[in-house]
Amino acid sequence: MNDETTAPEALTRDAAARELERLAREIARHDLLYYDDSAPELSDAEYDLLRRRNEAIEARFPDLKRADSPSERVGAPPSSSFAKVRHSRPMLSLGNALNDDDLAEFEGRVRRFLNLGDDEPVVLYGEPKIDGLSATLHYHDGKLVLGATRGDGETGEDVTANLKTLRDLPHALTGDDVPERLEVRGEVYIGLKDFAALNREREAAGEEAFVNPRNTASGGLRQIDTALTAKRRLRFFAHGWGEVSEPLGERQEDVLARLDAWGFALAPLARRCTGLEEARALHRKIEAARPKLDFEIDGVVFKVDRLDWQQRLGAAGRAPRWAIAYKFPAEQAETVLHRISISVGRTGALTPVAALEPVHVGGVTVSRATLHNEDEIARKDIRAGDTVVVQRAGDVIPQVVRVIEERRPTQSKPFVPSDVCPECGSHAVREEGEAVRRCTGGLVCPAQAVERLRHFVARDAFDIEGLGAKQIEAFYAEGRVRSPADIFDLETKDGTEEFPKLAEREGWGETSAANLFSAIEARRRITLDRFIHALGIRHAGQTTARLLARRYGTVEEWRAAMDAASEPESESLEALTDVDGIGPVVANAIVEFVAEPRNGEILDALCERLDIEPFEAPAADSPVAGKTVVFTGKLKRMTRQEAKARAEALGAQVAGSVSKATDYVVAGEDAGSKLKRAEALGVTVLSEDAWLAVAAGEAPPAADEDGDGDG
Ligand code: IVH
Repeated sequence: MNDETTAPEALTRDAAARELERLAREIARHDLLYYDDSAPELSDAEYDLLRRRNEAIEARFPDLKRADSPSERVGAPPSSSFAKVRHSRPMLSLGNALNDDDLAEFEGRVRRFLNLGDDEPVVLYGEPKIDGLSATLHYHDGKLVLGATRGDGETGEDVTANLKTLRDLPHALTGDDVPERLEVRGEVYIGLKDFAALNREREAAGEEAFVNPRNTASGGLRQIDTALTAKRRLRFFAHGWGEVSEPLGERQEDVLARLDAWGFALAPLARRCTGLEEARALHRKIEAARPKLDFEIDGVVFKVDRLDWQQRLGAAGRAPRWAIAYKFPAEQAETVLHRISISVGRTGALTPVAALEPVHVGGVTVSRATLHNEDEIARKDIRAGDTVVVQRAGDVIPQVVRVIEERRPTQSKPFVPSDVCPECGSHAVREEGEAVRRCTGGLVCPAQAVERLRHFVARDAFDIEGLGAKQIEAFYAEGRVRSPADIFDLETKDGTEEFPKLAEREGWGETSAANLFSAIEARRRITLDRFIHALGIRHAGQTTARLLARRYGTVEEWRAAMDAASEPESESLEALTDVDGIGPVVANAIVEFVAEPRNGEILDALCERLDIEPFEAPAADSPVAGKTVVFTGKLKRMTRQEAKARAEALGAQVAGSVSKATDYVVAGEDAGSKLKRAEALGVTVLSEDAWLAVAAGEAPPAADEDGDGDG
């Protein structure tokens, strides 16, 4: 069985690591297709499955969680619309040493490679390993002309404008010995005080705090709007160089001294070490200084100081033979765990959290630690009252590493997960293959309500002008809107004792209040698919909502069918899972939602206030009604999303892959494997223009009749 199809709980550690890598890549690719190209290849449910699989594997192996994990990314990923920059010399990564022996082995390899005599010392230049992201800067005649991220090491992104907002990055170099061409490499990071201040500001503004400094720096650098980069107060330490028009010196130390003189900031504590003893001592010294530093470091980088030796040593694969990262062990401390409480996230995920006796770890006092999920607690057998070892590794949120069993109180009892949401009392369930328990309360759960209400009024749902996330949050806090139906009572309840006139509230006036009420009024009529999508049922995104609306037609039919489908093995349930694109997991989520009495109340209240229009049946007499179409390649006239919507409106089924059942493959520019498959199966291939002609009931342009797909 291959990794991709193995259930998360059946994966070996190695397989899990491989899968996390694959998922990070896949999800990033689909994010790009969705956000940048507006041409998603997956349905919402399929995409959701990838994300959930990633979460489930991470929950099982928290330590395998990747720095580029999709679960760390919130909302839209930074756009990749930055220009690509090919690095003149690859930007390498470093091999790791975890203990003194590893460091000695590194030195031994250097000696053997260079064939050095026993009495010949190897001088190593050691400097803190900054936990940031690497960037490269190109200077022509001392002027900064280009700055790029590392990317995959071969190709990065042009983030010159963003880098120019960094306060300690010189735009022009000082000194009369600056080479004509100079490429300086180093680390972009955020200071810990700045990081803390930034998070205080965000929390005060009601925004979610950033999780860790590294991701904050990395996300900050890749903002399209450079004003946002500037707000993150990023900094830069130089630690190396790329292509240069003349040799920079004979030793690492000399070159860094020149970089310093030209105006670059260098990390403190760096120095030359003659022999292993000195190198080890420097490692200990920097480790001891770590809690006092205003930036995160995760080790010491040792580089062979002589540049001619660096040259001879070269690189093996992706890492230089002349440098190594001697990592620090994660910072740990012991403390007492008082309680295990459950926090409910905005999406309904229940996360067990340890309340700790405050303890100092790595320069910060911690009193809470994430316990990830129930399985983790069971695996480590963590109980209230235990003395535990906590550690900070990269993230600011600490982890509980293990329990010190000898110090366990005698009457302690194993942790028993509750199946009730602590916020709203709704049923909290774990779906098969998932490590996370989720509250099914949705709209009725206060932890989720604001998020759900935001979703309810979002562009692709009710799309109420003038009612965005900000207004929803304010109305929720005030009690004006606690449930979706309240939105439609805003006007009638306005000016009552409970809710003073909106027009008189700060930030509002007669006109804006009247505009809001009329925008709400306009949305009392809504199509069934938008309505279902707005409910925010788990797994039921836009695509699924459309499928449901098409299958059931009216809201009454749909609700009745979902009620009936709560009977296992009922015909109604079978009919639901028979809808192409709705599997058992999705079906179950929908049926459960409708069956939850409090959701039923919300649906009743909405139905009373709204005019829910039956899904507009696609024109049955359209020439493409009932045909199955696959779009591939880049379309010129519209986005893939629009093409899909239009085809569906004409009654065609849009499929993601080509099979014998496919009637047409519409091939845009650079169509790849789907086009080949269509040709192999003898499926009719149409250009975009030809497709539009066919859909309009016209004869396609002649050139396409042989199906060469190139109009
Ligand atoms: S030298 C040829 N020095 O660590 C390798 N790297 O794990 C060039 N890093 O991608 C790296 N501090 O982003 C070097 N003082 C330092 C560093 C440092 C942080 C990063 C760098 C590199 C990564 C490798």
